[in-house]
Amino acid sequence: MMQRCSRGGTKTVCPLKLMTFSVAAIAAGMVALSPAQAADPDAGKALAVQWCSSCHLVSDDQPTAASASTPSFYDIGSDPDWTVESIATFLADPHPKMPDMSLTTIETTNLASYIKSLAR
Ligand code: HEC
Repeated sequence: MMQRCSRGGTKTVCPLKLMTFSVAAIAAGMVALSPAQAADPDAGKALAVQWCSSCHLVSDDQPTAASASTPSFYDIGSDPDWTVESIATFLADPHPKMPDMSLTTIETTNLASYIKSLAR
């Protein structure tokens, strides 16, 4: 006879309890990964140097030269028309002149928060 979820049984695995636990764990993970909490300008800078600095001026100390025809990240960050949200949205669906870098939501948010941190 199948025994399910009996109270006090030492070796009985309760499927319902296991499921409740994993749902809670997934929910906790989603909270931790929500863009607002994960915005990390330092991680965004690393991404910018790696992926964007061949075209854009992303930092005064970047190792490669940017092409002159692209807006610098200082200008974008200083432009009140660009917000963290609008930059992240732009990057999720890039301008045709820019390569599609298939960035994740976390990456676009980190990049956007880095760019806005350059406002001067
Ligand atoms: C292959 C060159 C290239 C790369 C790589 C590139 N961009 Fe761009 N980006 C451009 C060009 C060119 C424009 C200007 C598009 C236009 O105005 O038509 C632009 C425009 C933008 C704009 C909008 C600025 C504005 O005022 O319109 C943002 C924001 C931006 N890039 C962010 C990024 C980020 C972040 C990365 C790295 C993840 C990146 N770009 C990588 C070429 C590039």
